Amino acid sequence: MPIKTTIDKIPQFVDQEVTLSGWLYNKRESKKLKFLEIRDGMGIIQAIVGINDVDDNTWEQAGSLTQESSLHISGRISKHPKKDEYELQVMPGGIDIVQISVDYPITPKEHGSGFLFQNRHLWLRSKRPWALMRIRSEVIHAIRTFFYEDGYITFDAPIFTPNACEGTTDLFEVPYFDSVAYLSQSGQLYGETGAMSHRKIVVFGPSFRAEKSKTRRHLTEFWHIEPEIAWFNINDNMELMERLTMFVIEWVLRKCRPELELLERDIKFLENIKTPFIRLHYDDAVNQLNELKPDRIKELKKELKAATDETLQAELKREIEELGTDFKWGGDFGAPDEGILTRQYDRPIFVHRFPRGIKAFYMAPDPEDERVSLSIDMLAPEGYGEIIGGGQRAEDYDYLVAQIKKHNLPMEAYQWYLDLRKYGTNPHGGFGLGVERTVAWLAGVHSIRECIPYPRTIDRVYP
Ligand code: 4AD
Repeated sequence: MPIKTTIDKIPQFVDQEVTLSGWLYNKRESKKLKFLEIRDGMGIIQAIVGINDVDDNTWEQAGSLTQESSLHISGRISKHPKKDEYELQVMPGGIDIVQISVDYPITPKEHGSGFLFQNRHLWLRSKRPWALMRIRSEVIHAIRTFFYEDGYITFDAPIFTPNACEGTTDLFEVPYFDSVAYLSQSGQLYGETGAMSHRKIVVFGPSFRAEKSKTRRHLTEFWHIEPEIAWFNINDNMELMERLTMFVIEWVLRKCRPELELLERDIKFLENIKTPFIRLHYDDAVNQLNELKPDRIKELKKELKAATDETLQAELKREIEELGTDFKWGGDFGAPDEGILTRQYDRPIFVHRFPRGIKAFYMAPDPEDERVSLSIDMLAPEGYGEIIGGGQRAEDYDYLVAQIKKHNLPMEAYQWYLDLRKYGTNPHGGFGLGVERTVAWLAGVHSIRECIPYPRTIDRVYP
């Protein structure tokens, strides 16, 4: 009897007979041979059916298989003499069809991204999303491992909340019995309560933002990793971000090489990343940006001339327009600005000490420069931009009350949060890392929509 196994374990079964259960991914045929690409979720293997090696019925069954038909398939495993490639030589009676799939919509030809996202439930079976979901899974596992090994407590924050953590403009309001609640934009405020209890905690959950713009780096629902630590300053914070990022890069390089290769990621770039990452004061970032803008605009205009794809043309035009005016101190960096800053370096950048006016109510003011806050954004290189945002929290009760008023937030909803400053306040901080943006950078893909199984955006809640 052939041994039941899965494709990832095939190297153990060279010259032995096995049975695999899976789906037909693709098929090529000639008069005497049929080449069946079989996928079983764990990998893909080529199965060969020879007219002279099998009975008539098996030959016919192989001929009747259509894309995504489900089957059990049995045969002998052989290994390529030089490469790590394996094949399955189908044996007589070796094809047992479970279901013939009819008119599978995603054929091997090219499809537009709108069509593919509409069929996301099926598209997930294709090689590219398959590789991306595996990388995503490893990134999450790496991050969990990092924090676990460093002594952090997993601390789950509620999804229904009365508070706006990141400002009121992009809140999702939901009916909550006789009242209303908001879907959480960030678990941070609750994470801070956990840090006062356990010293260092990490919140991991979904965050929701009613983002009205369609960009390649905004979702309305994303997964958020948010460590929060008591007795922790802005420099400790940057060091933690740096250690975590290096840990995740090394993990992905170790665990996901075939997936990165499939996606044609420039692996060398990741391999060459070293610490320390670049630390750039906001003031210096603004100066650099204004110096570098003219050259970048020239480059983009050249790209626009050469571009044939309409979406790309529109993106390039928007970018040129956004970069058109001088960047003024006090503004926040947009994606094109971050693109310019990050393209200069071979590693991530920390931009720190943003003006107080553009950061959330809870950010600590810099005691040495009242114009700015103790905030940090970590920008991924290669034009990717922000993947982490964080900082030191305001610890003074009166300052925080004034900030809540200034930001027009309802004081009564923040009483519990203010209690943290009444009872044993201390310098503390943390950050939020967006899983999808991190995966997009590590995998080298353009849009974060591809980095979550089911992306939610202003124009998509299906499937
Ligand atoms: O910079 P943000 O808004 O910071 C916070 O929410 C803090 N409360 C985090 C903290 O200090 N605990 O978001 C943090 C990160 C961003 O750097 C980005 O990676 C991701 O969350 N993010 C998004 N990802 C996808 N779609 C969106 N609409 C996102 N908004 C933020």
